[in-house]
Amino acid sequence: MKISFVGGGTMGEAMIKSLLAKEVAKPGDIAVSDVSEARRDVLKKKYGVKVVADNKEAVKGAEVVVLAVKPQELGKIMAELKGLLPQQLVLSIAAGATVESLSQGLNHARLVRAMPNMAAQIGEGMTVWTTTDGVNQEQKDMAQSILAALGKEIHVSGEKYIDMATALSGSGPAYVFLVIESLVDAGVHIGLPRDMAEKLVVQTVLGSARAVEVMGKHPAELKNMVTSPGGTTTEGLLQLEAGGLRSLLLQTVIAAYNKAKALGAK
Ligand SMILES: NC(=O)c1ccc[n+]([C@@H]2O[C@H](COP(=O)([O-])OP(=O)(O)OC[C@H]3O[C@@H](n4cnc5c(N)ncnc54)[C@H](OP(=O)(O)O)[C@@H]3O)[C@@H](O)[C@H]2O)c1
Repeated sequence: MKISFVGGGTMGEAMIKSLLAKEVAKPGDIAVSDVSEARRDVLKKKYGVKVVADNKEAVKGAEVVVLAVKPQELGKIMAELKGLLPQQLVLSIAAGATVESLSQGLNHARLVRAMPNMAAQIGEGMTVWTTTDGVNQEQKDMAQSILAALGKEIHVSGEKYIDMATALSGSGPAYVFLVIESLVDAGVHIGLPRDMAEKLVVQTVLGSARAVEVMGKHPAELKNMVTSPGGTTTEGLLQLEAGGLRSLLLQTVIAAYNKAKALGAK
């Protein structure tokens, strides 16, 4: 599969790395354009992919064109590429860039809008994606194999789910990082060495997430299994409930969702 990346920054590199590791594409099948010469050099050296400074040059002959630039750069890039992508599939990962703005900006009907998250950098990402009607089955399969290389993926038929995913799985790693940071600080506060506290917290978060996935039980049931009457866990849970953790998380995701919608409407 011939894939071109416009933008070879953090996410562009994460995608290239995963595509090569999972053998979805060979280095010779990947071309990247980036304004930064330093980035081009890094990508060429590390992955052996073709690098160019010119976006128009990069997309020539590609079956899939991935737009992996910051949303504020998109307008300029779409103006550059308008009319140059007759049959290609264009896959945008730019936060907030709607299908309508992409199809108008590029005058193009074969589009994928995807929202990955930062864990894609280690192949453990969660991506939610949608396609326009102009995308044929072969192109849909190509998009799926690209996004599956980043971790888990879910195709949705309504774009509204992309804004919802932005608020939950897109921003989600930051919420979880804050929880991890706070728990590690708490461990240090009660006397654990920081490196030991970090190890304990990370494995607890990983193990708990895997338990939900593997054991197939409702999280409340799993929580009840580890909460003995009059014990330490119930004492801790009382504080989380008193501090309003549930409603705080609800408000967090609702606020991020409203922001995602507002950014998309601009
Ligand atoms: N990072 C995440 O976890 C994440 C998650 C979900 C979605 N996304 C989306 O992914 C997109 C890329 O994010 P990122 O974190 O990879 O950003 P990034 O690291 O800034 O990468 C973008 C790259 O594109 C280059 N660039 C800027 N203008 C360009 C142009 N006109 N033509 C070609 N290349 C250009 C940048 O060069 P300079 O640095 O020199 O400007 C940079 O190397 C964003 O739209 C973001 O919303 C990111």
